[in-house]
Amino acid sequence: MRRFLLLYATQRGQAKAIAEEICEQAGAHGFSADLHCISESDKYDLKAETAPLVVVVSTTGTGDPPDTAHKFVKEIQNKTLPVDFFAHLRYGLLGLGDSEYTYFCNGGKIIDKRLQELGARHFYDTGHADDCVGLELVVEPWIAGLWAALTEHFRSSRGQEMSGALPVASRASLRTDPMKPELLHLESQVELLRVDDSGRKDSDIVQQNAVNSGQSSALIEDFEPSLTRSVPPLSQASLNIPALPPDYLQVHLQESLGQEESQTSVTSVDPVFQVPVSKAVQLTTDDAIKTTLLVELDISKTDFSYQPGDAFSVICPNSDSEVQNLLERLQLADKREYCVLLKIKADTKKKGAALPHHIPEGCSLQFILTWCLEIRAIPKKAFLRALVDYTSNSAEKRRLQELCSRQGAADYSRFVRDACACLLDLLLAFPSCRPPLSLLLEHLPKLQPRPYSCASSSLFHPGKLHFVFNIVEFLSNTTTVVLRKGVCTGWLATLVDSVLQPNTRVSHEDSRKALAPKISICPRTTNSFHLPNDPSSPIVMVGPGTGVAPFIGFLQHREKLQEQHPSGNFGAMWLFFGCRHKDRDYLFREELTRFLKRGILTHLKVSFSRDAPVGKEEAPAKYVQDNVRLHGKQVARILLHESGYIYVCGDAKNMATDVNDALVEIISREAGVEKLEAMKTLATLKEEKRYLQDIWS
Ligand code: 2AM
Repeated sequence: MRRFLLLYATQRGQAKAIAEEICEQAGAHGFSADLHCISESDKYDLKAETAPLVVVVSTTGTGDPPDTAHKFVKEIQNKTLPVDFFAHLRYGLLGLGDSEYTYFCNGGKIIDKRLQELGARHFYDTGHADDCVGLELVVEPWIAGLWAALTEHFRSSRGQEMSGALPVASRASLRTDPMKPELLHLESQVELLRVDDSGRKDSDIVQQNAVNSGQSSALIEDFEPSLTRSVPPLSQASLNIPALPPDYLQVHLQESLGQEESQTSVTSVDPVFQVPVSKAVQLTTDDAIKTTLLVELDISKTDFSYQPGDAFSVICPNSDSEVQNLLERLQLADKREYCVLLKIKADTKKKGAALPHHIPEGCSLQFILTWCLEIRAIPKKAFLRALVDYTSNSAEKRRLQELCSRQGAADYSRFVRDACACLLDLLLAFPSCRPPLSLLLEHLPKLQPRPYSCASSSLFHPGKLHFVFNIVEFLSNTTTVVLRKGVCTGWLATLVDSVLQPNTRVSHEDSRKALAPKISICPRTTNSFHLPNDPSSPIVMVGPGTGVAPFIGFLQHREKLQEQHPSGNFGAMWLFFGCRHKDRDYLFREELTRFLKRGILTHLKVSFSRDAPVGKEEAPAKYVQDNVRLHGKQVARILLHESGYIYVCGDAKNMATDVNDALVEIISREAGVEKLEAMKTLATLKEEKRYLQDIWS
């Protein structure tokens, strides 16, 4: 068997699952994979590795490698390593990411770039899979092509051994090697260009860049490492059904004697704090398009501490009725209290199979479905593929096969992804499908705690933590159209209903204390979205909608500091806020006006996207970025000449990219430089942590 080393750097298990899939398929193609988590550095040695390397790397945060890769990245980034440190290494890399974020697939790109700098060479083109449109669109063809590239690699290295000649590069490496200097040059500009051009895939951007910098068209053709664009044609005669995912779990349901189950057992990493809700206020009027709630948590009896700008996570359960419906559909309603015992099947074909670590031992079925599994997750193709074998009706079986086949990508997107289908929807759409519980436990991902930004300062509200959210509502339409609420925000809205106040700030704390519902929260690793250390630095805050939340914390904090140091030197604070209607969803209107009157907030610029202009007034700014443009001179001065900071919080997909475009425009105008130069300035500001984003999609 021809051996290769297979490493995965995973955050939420996706890269691991894909690496396991590669490992699983390897034998059938005459290869054997040595599979390891990239953090297990004692199990492999890249410096001495003679076999080809395959790496699957996910991305986390706004473009960081996963936590499991931190040590590896730090080691390879050691500046003292010589440029030929990995000259012996041939590798193929698959990056995972989400193009809704600015730094798409950045975890993989960082590793890819550094391996190249240290002399390693591709034996196979890098793939960039996009979770936004479906990882499988790239993952499946990438894995399919890997076997040919490996075969070619082994064939050419044998030829080299026999002739003693220089390495005979594989087709893939011939395409990338001759352009090494340019490749590095272009790669270093990819991120800058992505910031500017939303919606374009990396390969388009690199091509565009090559055109701009006058590279030859041959070079442009050469560089197409991303498989994001190479989706196979849909016209193949027979369906290309992916291999059956391994089935490795054995489940035993045992009548239990009611052992203690707690929410704290669902998260193993962080400390969990159970805290009472001391107040909840509806910040929007009843006729607003979205309902926004502010929730106050009483953290006074805990060690939980935070700084304005920090985020934390809420541990939330699935909806009782959805869990109940799922149990009924699985014909397990009478066993909901049974204890779930898990074992790995003795004859499992899944290499390195382990029990899912997010399912605690000995808990009831009801607890697992409620607190541990994302039952609303959009089922992946691998899950659909596994369901095929438990579907008895042949028409339904065929339809499921179509949906998970490579040719059915568009159909899958429409019927499953765009329809926001969950497992329950699929089970209703395919009534003859009767999957065993083990299959669900293998395929449903971990129910993730949901992150929120802190919307208060503990100087201003000692012992309290505020956060703000919109109650998410969306339509799911697989078989019938259903209006659903977000898992966490829907649950929070119901939970706080008993303490909810209308749009007022009267506290019901004392009278309602006995009723206070509790929620479990955990801190999130610190980010850099904090006020500058030097309070005299001017700052610009951009936060439409609930994106204003961290800035309320900033302003409260600054108010207290100014009270404590009345003769202190405090820099200007600009806030660009945006909402739909002045009288419906202008969040924190009174607070912001008060901050302005007290001189804490020096400039408040608010845009209303759906209010008609009053009288003969000129069309006012519609969005925050329009106001940023209108005040471009001052914003540019703060950033370019006053060592100031800019913070952007809110929607990643549209708002953050539009604000970024506005910044490019004003910097290029005010500094009198080309667009590319302005982008570089913004990239430098990001590096210096003076352009900070807390964005989500
Ligand atoms: P809209 O829904 O009327 O288009 C808070 O959600 C505010 O952000 C709303 O006023 C919303 O406007 C606005 N918004 C929507 N898209 C935006 C974008 N691309 N950039 C900035 N603000 C946007």
